[in-house]
Amino acid sequence: MRVLGIETSCDETGIAIYDSEHGLLAHVLRTQAPLHANYGGVVPELASRDHVRHLIPLIRSALCEASCEAQDLAGVSYTAGPGLIGALLAGAAVARSLAWSLGIPCLGVHHMEGHLLAPMLEPTPPEPPLLALLVSGGHTQLVDMARVGSYRILGESVDDAAGEAFDKTAKLLGLGYPGGPALERLAELGEAGRFVFPRPMTNRPGLNFSFSGLKTFTLQTLRTTRDDQKTRADIARAFADAVVDTLVIKCRRALKATGYRRLVAAGGVSANRALRARLRELSGEGIQVYYPRPEFCTDNGAMIAYAGWVRLRAGHRDGLEFPVRPRWPLAELPPV
Ligand code: KG4
Ligand code: ZN
Repeated sequence: MRVLGIETSCDETGIAIYDSEHGLLAHVLRTQAPLHANYGGVVPELASRDHVRHLIPLIRSALCEASCEAQDLAGVSYTAGPGLIGALLAGAAVARSLAWSLGIPCLGVHHMEGHLLAPMLEPTPPEPPLLALLVSGGHTQLVDMARVGSYRILGESVDDAAGEAFDKTAKLLGLGYPGGPALERLAELGEAGRFVFPRPMTNRPGLNFSFSGLKTFTLQTLRTTRDDQKTRADIARAFADAVVDTLVIKCRRALKATGYRRLVAAGGVSANRALRARLRELSGEGIQVYYPRPEFCTDNGAMIAYAGWVRLRAGHRDGLEFPVRPRWPLAELPPV
């Protein structure tokens, strides 16, 4: 079964073709980062219009890369939420129309389930039951994945998501958009321990996160020290170390609570080298850690094609209407 996946939840147009026998046949990605950089963040209307402009040419490129025709597809999946409503609708409309014209099934999938399943595209895919750390621009969640499609949220951020905290702190440090990768690079130049930021909500029980205080901490540190390039790098390091440490502490806690020995880290922030290195250390404690390759940590079409295939294979179908959901709790998904 060959499935075309379409991702348009935010500022990336991702298209991919997944084949049940041969794996990933093609994936193409257009990032809108330069378009939004001037504004310091994603402008929703510009995002929708850019998706509309590039969806069809990118689908053509993906079909070409996979050396196949639209008629060879057996299904289409698209991100139905959570995300920006206009951006979601752009992908949904194209997916639905294409599937209808080809007479094949179509399915709207959950963006975070896409992230969660992305490591399954790697040569040694993780087997549930497992614990998942989902860290993106909009979400920070610890998820108990009993099996594919059954998700229980064990903890999540009560304010900013980890990626959002990276982006906002990057802005304070005068770094461009998107902030996560830029802050990571600056932090790698910084001196560990010159500034020490708190590890929020780690001194009490529970698996929730709170990252918004760290940007206030950044601001205060910037105001009270001499502002030079070294200081900025040291602050970036203190911030990144605090986020990574907090995530690792909570993962360890959740692994203990669930008794699981497998951990998946996914979503944009899981591309962070320091986080990956710290989580890898858990293997010394008998925990197997899985990540997507870095390009599949951030938004992409491959994870949507794969998640779509998993559910289409199980017989899940949508009707002709195409609802999209800007907000969509992961735990509401039906089991596969
Ligand atoms: O999963 P994603 O591409 O989009 C959402 O679903 O939100 O995640 C994007 C987020 C952004 O906040 C971005 O700054 C962050 O992931 N990010 C990173 C890194 N790469 C992307 N944060 C820290 N280090 C990185 N290397
Ligand atoms: Zn995402």
